[in-house]
Amino acid sequence: MSNVITFGNFKGGTGKTTNATLTGLALARANKKTLLIDFDPQANATDIYFKTAANLDKEDLKFKQTLLSAIEEKNVENAILNLDTNIDFIPSSADFSLYPRFLEKKFKDSYKDRVTYFNSLMKQFIDRYDYILFDLPPTISLISDSALYASDWVLIILQTQEHSLQGAESFLKYIQEQVVDEYKAPRLNLLGILPVLLKNGAPVDKSTLNVAIDEFGEENMFNTLIRSMERIKRYSIRGIYNKDQYDKKIIKLYDSVAQEIIERAENDDTVN
Ligand SMILES: Nc1ncnc2c1ncn2[C@@H]1O[C@H](COP(=O)(O)OP(=O)(O)O)[C@@H](O)[C@H]1O
Ligand SMILES: [Mg+2]
Repeated sequence: MSNVITFGNFKGGTGKTTNATLTGLALARANKKTLLIDFDPQANATDIYFKTAANLDKEDLKFKQTLLSAIEEKNVENAILNLDTNIDFIPSSADFSLYPRFLEKKFKDSYKDRVTYFNSLMKQFIDRYDYILFDLPPTISLISDSALYASDWVLIILQTQEHSLQGAESFLKYIQEQVVDEYKAPRLNLLGILPVLLKNGAPVDKSTLNVAIDEFGEENMFNTLIRSMERIKRYSIRGIYNKDQYDKKIIKLYDSVAQEIIERAENDDTVN
């Protein structure tokens, strides 16, 4: 059975794309067939994975067609690219910002039809994957609603800096009030909250982490903590690679994120 996970937080620069791309590769290493869907028209995850492909000596990896045109042809499968063993991705591009307009034209009256459309298109390929990850833009729109509707899980990235708890809180509130209560998302549950410390050792980080544990419950917090690392920052510019001890350290870190995801998703006994 496939597990669809949205990486969420309605704020830019919190590490959604970084964590989605590194986690996708870690799930693949854990022998899980994984697909990352870049749902952000800014296409940062796409950029990282194309550069990662080049680092793997796959310079010839090319766009087949844009996600939006594949949707228009009702054949999203055509946009899937293979990055490496067990890891595929669907690249995004600027035209995907027109997806809400496409839906508004196609379904003139029903917001629910618009929100559920991508979920119906996923039926073609969903069974081929153990994990499907959505990377989202930082704004609420039909794009984020479509991904959340199609998801089993939301993994919230919590940047433990001042005010950013709010981003995670409002994301959870939005999911409950809109996506679950209003659109009746059939499967959506909280997978957990992944804490990201972008300022190592700053006192505000630790207190935010404690507030988060109180607020969201210890059982909802990932045990793995992502610290600020120069090498991770560099991956955004050069793509992900594996050359030295710093890379190995990050591989180990994300292997533990993947293990926690697998435990949470596959040992789940909640009844929706
Ligand atoms: N653990 C980390 N250590 C250092 N830099 C990071 C880390 N995680 C993310 N970043 C950097 O923070 C910036 C924003 O991250 P990104 O994943 O693009 O956020 P989002 O997708 O939420 O907008 C990027 O420049 C990225 O390289
Ligand atoms: Mg991003």
